[in-house]
Amino acid sequence: MSDSPRPGRLDGKVALITGAAGGIGEAIAHKFAYEGAGGLVLAGLPGDPLGQVAADVLEQYETRVETYAGDLGEQGSAEACVRTALDAFGRLDVLVNNAGAPPKLAPIDEYPAEDFDKLMHSNVKTAFFMTRAAIPHLRETGGNVVSAGSEAGWNGSPQFVPYGPTKAWMHAFMKGVAGEQGPHGVRANCVCPGPVDTSWAHPETGPVGADAQGVAVRSTSFGRRATAEEIANVYAFLASDEASYVTGALWLVDGATTTVHGMPGADADKAAQAQPRGILNLRFQRASDPPDAPGG
Ligand SMILES: NC(=O)c1ccc[n+]([C@@H]2O[C@H](COP(=O)([O-])OP(=O)(O)OC[C@H]3O[C@@H](n4cnc5c(N)ncnc54)[C@H](O)[C@@H]3O)[C@@H](O)[C@H]2O)c1
Repeated sequence: MSDSPRPGRLDGKVALITGAAGGIGEAIAHKFAYEGAGGLVLAGLPGDPLGQVAADVLEQYETRVETYAGDLGEQGSAEACVRTALDAFGRLDVLVNNAGAPPKLAPIDEYPAEDFDKLMHSNVKTAFFMTRAAIPHLRETGGNVVSAGSEAGWNGSPQFVPYGPTKAWMHAFMKGVAGEQGPHGVRANCVCPGPVDTSWAHPETGPVGADAQGVAVRSTSFGRRATAEEIANVYAFLASDEASYVTGALWLVDGATTTVHGMPGADADKAAQAQPRGILNLRFQRASDPPDAPGG
């Protein structure tokens, strides 16, 4: 972590982050703590290393952290998760709907029904039940919701066709919440990444094959995946008061993969392809990361 003074964009705010024990969610947890959050609830499935991420955040930023382990696609768990934030911190300012399941790769005529159900459960129902439970408390604080959309929700994705529609649902869900809850002071936005350097985007730990991985990278204008931190930076901005007039937005963070055609990244300079070093010491950006080496 950098030694320079922290910007404090989220000073004192209490945030609940789902899917917080790895990938983009871990980076959001670190970034929010770095930005001065007053309390965090890190939520995920039983078995996720929530305690480890909580310990890292406490050690590096001295931020108060609670964890909640449960299947947030179940209404009772989602409500208990929100209750955890209220019991621990007495308020809720930000809900981050980041939890999601990686898609299985299969052509649509062979797509297993159980994998479709899993996507609906983890990508759609988690956000529905969490938002439903959180909104009354976000109204009290003039808070906001930031949710995981995707370029796939705009473009669709051959070979994992059912995934994109779960993100298109999220886009429309956030727009609807923005319109309905804005009059009560609550904002709602989506962060829509392109390929991110998490377990999903590597053939050895995620659903994409080497060919699909190469196409995804070259379809960005930089010829590279985003780091989890680059995505978390946009979550922090949208969650902060700096974004006070931003609501109902679908914020692409996709290296222009949605707006360009072809494979511009195939010609990207070496410098454009280099990932920024960042300032956060993450342990679980990818499943292939050594578990004992933050910042590896
Ligand atoms: N990685 C990418 O390239 C990419 C691109 C666009 C959008 N996204 C979206 O960003 C989000 C995070 O992606 P990631 O790559 O960090 O994934 P990840 O698998 O590293 O993290 C997702 C987390 O969500 C948790 N989760 C899943 N279902 C849950 C449930 N029912 N209840 C509680 N927790 C649950 C998982 O346990 C996991 O820790 C996802 O919503 C994903 O769709 C990712």
